[in-house]
Amino acid sequence: MKYFNYKDENLTSENMSIADIATEVQTPFYCYSANAFKNNFNALKNAFKEINPKICYATKSNSNLSILNLLQKEGAGADVVSVGELKKSLIAGIMPHDIVFSGVGKTSDEIEFAIINKIFQINAESTSELNTINKIAQKLGTLQQVGIRINPDVTGKTHENISTGGIGDKFGIPFSEVKNLFLNNEHFENIDISGIAFHIGSQIHDIEPFKKVFQKTGELIKEINKNKQIIKVLDIGGGFGVDYENNQKEFPIEEYAELVKNSFDTKNLTVVIEPGRSISWDTGILVTKVLYIKKHGEKKFIITDCGMNDLMRPALYDGYHKILPLAETKNTEKISTDIVGPICESTDRLFSSNEFYDVKEGDLLAILNSGAYGSSMSSNYNVRPLVDEILIDKDNYNIIRNRQSFEESIAQEIKINKN
Ligand SMILES: Cc1ncc(COP(=O)(O)O)c(C=O)c1O
Repeated sequence: MKYFNYKDENLTSENMSIADIATEVQTPFYCYSANAFKNNFNALKNAFKEINPKICYATKSNSNLSILNLLQKEGAGADVVSVGELKKSLIAGIMPHDIVFSGVGKTSDEIEFAIINKIFQINAESTSELNTINKIAQKLGTLQQVGIRINPDVTGKTHENISTGGIGDKFGIPFSEVKNLFLNNEHFENIDISGIAFHIGSQIHDIEPFKKVFQKTGELIKEINKNKQIIKVLDIGGGFGVDYENNQKEFPIEEYAELVKNSFDTKNLTVVIEPGRSISWDTGILVTKVLYIKKHGEKKFIITDCGMNDLMRPALYDGYHKILPLAETKNTEKISTDIVGPICESTDRLFSSNEFYDVKEGDLLAILNSGAYGSSMSSNYNVRPLVDEILIDKDNYNIIRNRQSFEESIAQEIKINKN
């Protein structure tokens, strides 16, 4: 654990004891380290220093305004997939020329907002979308830079629910159609199709699938740019795997950066990367309280006050999160244990093991590595509020999102049958 460790038997981050924070903030709550975000961002920046890409942080992984603002100060741009993420990025201070807009189903309103705000590039995922972007740019009397997101038909070894590069996945434009779109697009008078983009999935540990995509795409770019430089922007997506289970091999980021350099003419291309998880994953924990403990024969259930509405990854795609008590203990119990939330779904299971710490009702737990796809995926399911998010910075912390009140959580609902 890089950013959350025991000091004097208390789980701590930077100079703050998490248990002390929990005396002031109601559980469950997300707790992040500012230093962790800065470190992770700068480690990536350093690994790519020879290429000097635009690092467009995938805001979907954690889009809290303070986080976006913190990363912007370190030099990050944004990869957004909705007008909501785009607006948040702008409010956080990220410059439009550092923003790329991905996503398979952008509405006309979203595209119009992006064009009006002069973002760097819209990555189109179908020919119909190219038509829509062109029409809107024409209406606005402008020329919009566009990237074509290719579907390379290459998948990385990852959970099928986070794989995006196969021909059976909904993402991108089939590889076979791409060349024609770059070479015969005079009818699109208001878009400059000068970018190529791909993203083959998330949580990929192996460099092999990237090698395959780079080779295919590198050859395609050479062919298209043979007589004239048509492709000027290369957006290679994100997806760099991280080690949730503390037993996976580390993603070879330096080797990957070298591969990018050797596969593409990076001196003459603006390179964009869209890392999300690799920046935010280990920056945060979800702090929760043990409500009840019960046994069903030889099975133990530890029931917490956070559930799948707060952290969806385990239920959604078997995401693994190590869980530790805030107060360090070596005592464990060897029994099949499920740590579960209060949601009325059997998949509301946060963790399973044949051995877990001997915790008591009322104890506090930290669900580790919850910085990515944690709070950004949370919901009001079971009419539960979105929880506090706090950011530790050295000796202090700030609340960066307030827990929703019940009234706020139902504010958009209208009761029409008054009697
Ligand atoms: C288009 C695109 N770019 C970047 C990312 C970020 O991926 P990761 O968080 O694995 O780096 C995603 C994630 O789904 C994505 O869809």
